[in-house]
Amino acid sequence: MEFLGMYPTWHDTLLGSGWVLGIIAVVHVLASHVSVGAALVFAWLATAAYRRRRPELLEYVRRYGVLLLVFSYVVGSITGPGIWYSATVASPRGISALIHSYVWIWATEWVFFVGEVVGIYALVYLANKVDQKTHLKLTLFFAIASWCTMLIIVGILSFMMWPGQPEWFTQGGTLNGFYGPYTFGQIITRTAFMLVAAAVVGGIVASRIDDTAFRQEMTRKLAVLGIVAAVVGFFAFQWTLTTLPEHARTVMAALLPDWFVPSLWAVLIVTVAYFALTWALPRVLTPWLSVGMAAVLLVFGIWPEETARESMRKPWVAGQYVYSNQVIGRDVPALRIRSEVPMLEQRGMLASHPFIPANLRRVTEENTSQAGYALYLAYCSNCHNLGKTGIRPFGKKLADMDEEGLYGYLTGALASGSLPYMPHMPLKEDEARALARFLIQEGR
Ligand code: HEC
Repeated sequence: MEFLGMYPTWHDTLLGSGWVLGIIAVVHVLASHVSVGAALVFAWLATAAYRRRRPELLEYVRRYGVLLLVFSYVVGSITGPGIWYSATVASPRGISALIHSYVWIWATEWVFFVGEVVGIYALVYLANKVDQKTHLKLTLFFAIASWCTMLIIVGILSFMMWPGQPEWFTQGGTLNGFYGPYTFGQIITRTAFMLVAAAVVGGIVASRIDDTAFRQEMTRKLAVLGIVAAVVGFFAFQWTLTTLPEHARTVMAALLPDWFVPSLWAVLIVTVAYFALTWALPRVLTPWLSVGMAAVLLVFGIWPEETARESMRKPWVAGQYVYSNQVIGRDVPALRIRSEVPMLEQRGMLASHPFIPANLRRVTEENTSQAGYALYLAYCSNCHNLGKTGIRPFGKKLADMDEEGLYGYLTGALASGSLPYMPHMPLKEDEARALARFLIQEGR
């Protein structure tokens, strides 16, 4: 008998594997964005130091570089592979989709990343040991290598959300998938956000400068940079949203809470107010205030942005053809990939999934609940947790439903694939009964 080509997946019963991945990713985004933003700031300061003969600017760059090495590079290189590991076990087919189309692009990114790592070490350890012009070249090299890593990752992330051009599905082509109408908005938004993050973290170093006049000058420079970048980033994000495909906007409208847009305004206002304060009264800037602001940015700045990005590609996990629950839901002629939905419609999930125990392949009076649990794991667990914790917990979703109501929902809205944010998930009649019974009796 033929089965779906699934890999084993990991399911976290408390948080949900998606959240574990999300938490790791948010920390990684802060570390990596600070690093790229700081690389651009270094290029600017090192040029000024060279042209105007101001060695103290270079000393600032060196000290900030040490902080990056200790913070961004250690945290970034722990969380980076962490994303790989957690994503690979949470969504092996999603990762597989990305690798199949972009393995060489990823390799290219890795080359730039190696350049970046070599660059930061050279920048820090060769300061005052090589002549200024060579040091400036190293700084520019570091900035370009860093920014290019972002450029490449944004292309891959864009593909993950939505292959750039519709022709990609029929003709393939790396660049058809890589560049889309919303890729450029994302590049500007991320670059601006990186500069904000670099200006916030740069405050930790600036606040510890001994010379009062220079401390004031650096604090104000960072404040101006932070305000300009925050405003540009805010509007670039709004613009990016308008370049998204229709479906993404429908899904976001359905999924994002009402406070989402006001919360973006709040983040902008708090960020601008913070920088305005440190500009007007540079002496209030302390290492702890900067660390506090970095934490605020982490929680209120990155989380909503990443949540939006994650919601708008629902129900797909990658390339608009792999559902979050790993089922392939669409034909991709260019890759000779066929949708698995017809097979599921015909045979049901229990008969098609390779890891269903033999005694659950058919629903019987005795195994109903176990079969329901198996169906939950195969179909729903990537997006919903049982009980009251984790991702979209059924404890809350099903609070007001009874078994009959849920059965109707499963065989109606869900099985027909008419919900924009949930996969098309056909169920045989007895499967729907088993899943409804399990979720209502034991899943809430
Ligand atoms: C691709 C991820 C995904 C998968 C897989 C998935 N869901 Fe959902 N589900 C969602 C989203 C998104 C919502 C919208 C509400 C939210 O975000 O809280 C939702 C909402 C629901 C709701 C609340 C009613 C509604 O329409 O908003 C129920 C009930 C539900 N899902 C049941 C299931 C069942 C049962 C399965 C497995 C057979 C399943 N879901 C699989 C993503 C998913």
